[in-house]
Parts: sequence; structure tokens; C-alpha cells
Amino acid sequence: MADLQGRRILLGVTGGIAAYKSADLVRRLKDAGADVRVVMTRGAMEFVRPLTFQAVSGQPVHDSLLDPQAEAAMGHIELARWADVVLLAPATADALARVAHGLADDLLTTICLATEAPLAVAPAMNRVMWAHRATQDNLAVLRRRGVHVFGPGAGDQACGEVGAGRMLEPMELVQAVAGLFSEPLLQGVSVLITAGPTREPIDPVRYITNRSSGKMGFAVAQAAAAAGARVSLVAGPCALPTPPGVERVDVETAQEMLDAVTARAGEAQIFVASAAVADYRLAQVAASKLKKSRDIMHLELVRNPDILGTVAGMPNPPFTVGFAAETDNMRAYAEDKRRGKGLDMIAANWVGRPGTGFDADENALEVLWEGGGASLGPAGKLQVARELIRLVAQRYHDRVQV
Ligand code: CTP
Repeated sequence: MADLQGRRILLGVTGGIAAYKSADLVRRLKDAGADVRVVMTRGAMEFVRPLTFQAVSGQPVHDSLLDPQAEAAMGHIELARWADVVLLAPATADALARVAHGLADDLLTTICLATEAPLAVAPAMNRVMWAHRATQDNLAVLRRRGVHVFGPGAGDQACGEVGAGRMLEPMELVQAVAGLFSEPLLQGVSVLITAGPTREPIDPVRYITNRSSGKMGFAVAQAAAAAGARVSLVAGPCALPTPPGVERVDVETAQEMLDAVTARAGEAQIFVASAAVADYRLAQVAASKLKKSRDIMHLELVRNPDILGTVAGMPNPPFTVGFAAETDNMRAYAEDKRRGKGLDMIAANWVGRPGTGFDADENALEVLWEGGGASLGPAGKLQVARELIRLVAQRYHDRVQV
């Protein structure tokens, strides 16, 4: 599925029969994670009632430039600034003409002039109107100005004719909008990622684990896939959905994680170790359930293999990125870890502070590499993951070029 997590889409609905499909489009955009606000023209309201869009978007619908109450709530300039992208769907021949000529006599055309966000249009009209020189000239003007034109498709039309002029289907439009955001920073690069905790058995019913939720590693996998990478995600036990386009390998113990990683590391160009691997496992796992016969119980633990260290120590290692979770002296400890393990990059975060780290939805990272560093966040984990992938891609491509 397309990734529009946290993207703010201002959907302008103009007066064509395809407006009924735009209600479904709002739902699909929201399913992809977008925050959607709807602006309707007067013509659009002849086809579909604002209440429909209010219900599917969960937000009041904006329709008037001159209504002081609506302007006080979120005025046209605020809406224009709020949007990450403005999408006109359906865009009628009239709407295209008015935007091409820079008119600003209603809320939607005013927003189109007042926004600095990318503008996209999904034309929908009768095939003769579409083919008309006037429409095509207007489109040429819009394209020259950098407006994205999605479609139209061809086929049966509401007017009974057959030809070009149908609005693209909602899912096609969602993909097209997502394409505006994704930069192919890691196109075709193979990325191996570990995520989540590991689980070290004590006996058949008990185990040692930690508080890692896997959210950060899964977000990194999602961001890498959205950047065009071929992603393998080796995941310890965590109840998270697999990000789209990602190959997932489920493991439990550190040893299983090491096996899954070493089987794939030779092919990986980038390795990101975000898993919270248990440092120790039981020297001897009991074959049957331990009974509580003694007041004090001693468990003998032995060190687990260092997965990140193993990969970084390979003869031809991939570009390796480690994580460090620290409660104090973050920078110094993280830099020691980076040097000690021979990593290309390390991403350190505070743990044990409210609102970030394990299981939180937000995170902040201090990223360090030889001779440089950057602070990311605090922001949602997917946002931080996107920024991390941007840094990784820059450093990776620099290294490949050297
Ligand atoms: N890591 C790993 N295999 C292990 C342990 C850690 O791959 N057996 C990776 C983690 O995925 C993370 C980094 O190493 O990328 C964390 O480094 P580590 O030195 O293990 O951190 P801590 O366990 O926090 O170390 P310390 O207790 O010394 O602070």
C-alpha cells in the first residue's frame, strides 16, 4: 500500500459527476495514513453534499471564501499553508481554465494561488471537452508551471460516450500522490534490517526479553522500502504489521537472528541493526518446566553473539548502521560503540525518558559518523526513520563513489 503517513492533503472537489468517487478517494487517502481536508466548489455541492465529505474526512468541509466564521476557524491562507499537496479531483475543464488563468474568485482557486505546496490535478470531463484546444492549451500552461497532471483515463463516460476524460480510479490517484513524496534515494539497493527484541528461553514456558516494541526498526524498513530499496527485515517477536514491499523473517532468539542475518548479509549493501538483542542467554535451557522448589534461584547466563559486530567484521562488510540506547553520556558512549564495533554510522537515543524510546510513537536520534553528526526529531518514528534513511543514503552513496 502507498505510504502517506502524516502527509497533509488538501483535496479540492470541483463540479463534475466524478465528484462521487472523491468520497472514496478521501477514504483511501486516509487508509494510506494521510490527513485530508476537503474544499468544495459550488458546482461540486450540486453533485455531492458536503456532509458526505465531512463524514469520510472527519473534518469540516470548507466551501466559502467570504464566510467570516469559516475564515476565523481556518482561513484560506492557513489552509494554503497547511497543505503538503493540493489535489483537485475531479478537476473539471472549467476548474483547469480558472487555475491556468490565475483566477481567485472562490475559496479553491484562491488556495491554488496562495499555496506553495505542489499542485496536482485529476482531470475529468467529456472526451470532446478534453480534446478541445482550449483545454489542452490550459493544461500546457499548468504543466509548464510544474502542476502535476494525473490522467485522465479512457473508457466509458457518464455521458454515454467512450474515450479519454475519465478521472483516474481512487487507488490510482493515491499511488500518484504517494509518488510525489517518495524520492528513490535507495533505488535497487538491498537493505537488511534487524528489529524488535529477542526472546531467550529459560524453560518451555518462560523466557528473558526486553521492552523493545520493534516500532523504530519497522519504521526504518518502511522508509527504506519507500525509498526504493529491496528490504529484508529480520524481526524478533513483535505484533506489528509487515511494511508494504518488505520481506520479513520472524525469529525468536539472538542465535536465530544471527543465523538469519548471516545467511543474508553477504548480499546486503546496507545493514541496519535496530534490534534490541538480549546480551545473554541461558547456559542451559531446561527441557521441562522449572518448579518453584527453592527460595532463591540462580540462572547461569552466557553472552550472546554480537550480530552487528559480526556483520561489521566481515571481510567485505555492507554499510553498517548500529543503534545505541543510552540513559546517560549518550554521545560519548555511542561514539565509543561506533568505533569499537567498526560501524559506518550509529544512531543513539535516550531511553528511560517519558515519551521517547521503547514502545513510544515518537523518537529523537543523535546520529554520528566519522567526522560528522546530525540530530533528528523529536518526531513520529516514521518521520525520524525517513530522515535517517536520507542520511544513510547520502553517506552510503558517498562511500560507494570513493
Ligand atoms: N547488537 C547486536 N547483537 C547483540 C547486541 C547488540 O547486533 N548481541 C546491536 C544492536 O542491534 C544495536 C547495537 O548492537 O545496533 C547496540 O550495541 P550494544 O553494545 O549491544 O548496546 P548495549 O547492549 O546497550 O551495550 P551496553 O550494555 O554495553 O551499553
